Amino acid sequence: MNRNTTPLPRPAAASILGLSLVLVAGFIARGDPTPLSATRLRPVDYFASWPPGRKPDAVLVITGQTFGYLQPCGCSRPQLGGLERRFVFIQSLKEKGWPVAGLDLGDIPPSAAAVPEQLVLKYATTLPALREMGYVAVGVGKAEFRNGLFQLLEEYAGQKEQPPYTLAGNVGGLWGGKLTPREAAFPGPGKRPMVGLVEVAEVGRVPVGIAGVVGPTVQKAVMDLGAKTLIGFTPEKEALAEAAKTLAAHSRKPVLTVLLYQGTLDEARVVAKNWPQFRVVVCLSEDSEPPETPDIVARANAADALILRVGHKGRYVGVLGAFQKPQGDFDLKYQIVPLGEEFNTPGPDDVASRANPALALLDQYAEKVKSRNLLAKFPAGPHPAQVALPQKNITFVGSEACKTCHTAEYKQWSESHHAHAFEALTQIAKRPAHRHFDGECVVCHTVGFGYKSGYRNELATPGLKHVGCEACHGPGSAHAADPRDAKLLALQAPWRKQATDRLPEAAALDKLAKRSPAERNQFLTAAQQRAISGVSQMCMACHDSENDPNFDLFTYWPKVVHPSAKK
Ligand code: HEC
Ligand code: HEC
Ligand code: HEC
Ligand code: HEC
Repeated sequence: MNRNTTPLPRPAAASILGLSLVLVAGFIARGDPTPLSATRLRPVDYFASWPPGRKPDAVLVITGQTFGYLQPCGCSRPQLGGLERRFVFIQSLKEKGWPVAGLDLGDIPPSAAAVPEQLVLKYATTLPALREMGYVAVGVGKAEFRNGLFQLLEEYAGQKEQPPYTLAGNVGGLWGGKLTPREAAFPGPGKRPMVGLVEVAEVGRVPVGIAGVVGPTVQKAVMDLGAKTLIGFTPEKEALAEAAKTLAAHSRKPVLTVLLYQGTLDEARVVAKNWPQFRVVVCLSEDSEPPETPDIVARANAADALILRVGHKGRYVGVLGAFQKPQGDFDLKYQIVPLGEEFNTPGPDDVASRANPALALLDQYAEKVKSRNLLAKFPAGPHPAQVALPQKNITFVGSEACKTCHTAEYKQWSESHHAHAFEALTQIAKRPAHRHFDGECVVCHTVGFGYKSGYRNELATPGLKHVGCEACHGPGSAHAADPRDAKLLALQAPWRKQATDRLPEAAALDKLAKRSPAERNQFLTAAQQRAISGVSQMCMACHDSENDPNFDLFTYWPKVVHPSAKK
């Protein structure tokens, strides 16, 4: 198919409030005919607007709200993010001779997962990867609280005292309605508790002080989850005061201070205003796309505060460069960098995994998903067709069972990409491999995974590999046995709201594809519009905005249309 490629972002310089900022715009533009291979390795100097010929005295790479996105799935291209590229990017800064350290705001695991064990494994994969990248501190967010902070900490902080240290100064344990202070609630394997208040790290020759605090909105969301989190909070103000005091009195005398603030932008603005002790505040992004520039808060007797947000899912990193001024203060430069394919590890897969420890950790992750057979732990509920007619015991039977009666449809389907969709996981996905053992991938590359009698694994349900007939039409055992039953027939077109709803001919769709969505409807009957909307929704269960941002039924259906539907 025509995989629309997207041009890589091109930075454009802008200068606001003495900060030199680089705007990254236009990278969601579609339909650039340039083949990806041509754009992919074009080097972009993201730091062209930083002081030329000068190395920053300290560089902080800032991430957060990754929500378990360890690696792009590779379903469509280009996709941003992933630990592999983040490592390569940070390495590229180090190769410039820049002193770099990483900070992460938290929300490292997904908010929820079908298999909680897989969520824990993602966390346990990410933390060592961050250590390899030189991260010094991570915050704690709703995703950690909701999924058992104590259990997650055991995976890393509880194993050994080592960076990145977890910072959330106002978090305590809450059992029996009583708040246990942080130090006692989170005893660590060494001298410090597993959750700290501040950390001071030497970045180059610059001592950077970092504090972590959870703001009121996140606190409330956690308290609303009830007693099961075993988490309580002390007031934000107390933690901020203690953090400021501790940093001021610290033997390493931090000269640049960063607050990892698990709070909204509005909350962060207030904190930045009231606490001039913090020069930089990293807070939560509402949007998955990060803003191009920091939010700036002016303060009476202190330098402006910079509030940074980096978006969601690790698709971008924020890079803060600190340039020491003669009088001791810092000029701060900030740049958002999208982690595109140009940061893939060069070389063949085995070479790449030896060169890139994040990739090696991803390989181990995929191997563990396989060896622990997490695939078998995915829950399976009833399909709507199984709910509609429970007495028929409808099951998934595989595309072969449809072949005898629907020869033409079968032939057409067997020549489509859908008939090979499983091979995307066994043959195309490589960094890491083993993705056909991962339920998070299998769900859209097989038939009926997550439903009763649907795909389980290659041995148990070989006929349900790939995107077969029933992936779109629903389980078909009863219809195959009784093909004239009207109720059963209706269940095979679950998207139909009325019996007469049919898609327009493929040629008509193809023609309309060039028109805007508003214009299209003028050429379509109400029944066609209903069919288009129903079928689109069905397709987009898999062709969703994440895995296939270019999906449009008008261009896609003609590529997989069955001959009898051509009319
Ligand atoms: C169960 C998930 C699922 C559903 C439902 C689904 N698809 Fe797909 N589709 C896939 C996967 C996975 C691939 C990639 C197969 C490959 O290339 O290995 C794909 C590929 C395609 C392609 C080919 C892309 C190419 O590279 O040529 C088209 C066209 C397509 N789908 C159209 C549709 C349409 C139209 C619908 C709805 C009528 C639909 N799909 C429903 C999962 C799905
Ligand atoms: C929500 C559904 C969904 C999930 C989950 C999903 N995929 Fe896909 N995948 C698709 C669709 C749809 C396509 C086809 C996209 C297109 O043609 O543009 C696709 C295509 C692919 C392709 C490209 C195939 C080709 O022929 O080039 C690869 C590789 C792939 N997926 C790997 C994965 C991996 C690895 C995972 C798990 C990390 C995964 N997918 C999870 C829906 C999904
Ligand atoms: C024993 C023969 C037979 C088998 C096996 C069979 N079908 Fe059918 N199917 C039919 C007949 C007959 C019709 C009705 C055709 C008509 O009315 O034009 C039909 C109609 C359909 C329709 C159209 C429904 C509608 O209301 O428009 C779909 C979709 C369909 N079948 C899917 C499947 C799928 C999926 C399978 C495999 C799980 C399958 N069929 C297996 C005979 C069969
Ligand atoms: C990607 C999703 C998808 C897959 C896979 C798929 N179909 Fe369909 N099929 C559809 C849609 C959507 C329609 C309805 C077209 C319409 O309303 O005009 C359809 C229509 C049909 C019809 C009715 C044709 C008619 O003229 O009304 C039959 C029969 C059918 N499919 C059988 C199959 C069989 C058999 C397979 C597997 C070999 C299969 N389909 C695979 C999406 C799919």
